[in-house]
Amino acid sequence: MKRVSVYMLVVISSLLLIMTGCGKEKEVSTTSDEGPKEKTLRVVTDAAYAPFEYLEGDKIVGFDVDFINAVAKEAGYKVEIEHVGWDPIFVEIESKRADLAVSAITVNDERKQSYDFSVPYFLSTNKILVPEKSDVESGEDLKGKKIAVQTGTTGQEAVEALFGKNHKDIKKFENNNLAIQELLKGGAEAVVADNTVVEEYVKNNPDQKLKVVEDSSSFEEEFYGVLFPKGSELKADFDKAINTMLDNGKYAEIYKKQFGTDPDIETVKAQQ
Ligand code: ARG
Repeated sequence: MKRVSVYMLVVISSLLLIMTGCGKEKEVSTTSDEGPKEKTLRVVTDAAYAPFEYLEGDKIVGFDVDFINAVAKEAGYKVEIEHVGWDPIFVEIESKRADLAVSAITVNDERKQSYDFSVPYFLSTNKILVPEKSDVESGEDLKGKKIAVQTGTTGQEAVEALFGKNHKDIKKFENNNLAIQELLKGGAEAVVADNTVVEEYVKNNPDQKLKVVEDSSSFEEEFYGVLFPKGSELKADFDKAINTMLDNGKYAEIYKKQFGTDPDIETVKAQQ
């Protein structure tokens, strides 16, 4: 008798489990039927900024790509990433032809006037890329030297803050790879760009005998965010998904895969 009732209990609780399971499943599919969740979002980038976004053949790869794919999945969207170049990113977003942009884009007050940003997801700062033999040890040491930057980046702004807007020694390029080429062919004595990008370049190209110089008094801490058209309804969903991933280890997993180290999640979260 006792045996039978235990058996009955097992049967009843399994039935209950199955029923709750079914209920849940129904709930999920209803949301995806009704909501915008199945929508494919158009994401734009400037895929000339390794290791964040760059082309491998005609495929766009990099940390930002893995990051945005995971965030979108978490938020329940599909994404299609397209390389449009740096300046066009801002045109595409402002005109709402694209839904969002991910491109190692620094959150700053000027951009915030025309666009919305997600919560920050990456800590960055500008650093100086110079030949190994260079005597440059700080931003100030760049005085009188030709400096290559990518147009419209915080690298350009940081150098202009030191030497003045449109200074004749600042050479501006459409993408950061062109700025580095200018340095390699001797047309510039330094490149100023995001630390991770110049450090990665030195690491991957030891034969080019370059080094990275840090100057935390000339170059501020910056944080990357996902860029949206002003007033975009996506921001709330993406912020939530980013925070989930910062908390549940998914962000750390993507970070570790790319950089081989653990991210400083606290610093990124402290910016919110
Ligand atoms: N973080 C810098 C900025 O926002 C440079 C970003 C450049 N990104 C790129 N994919 N080219 O101005």
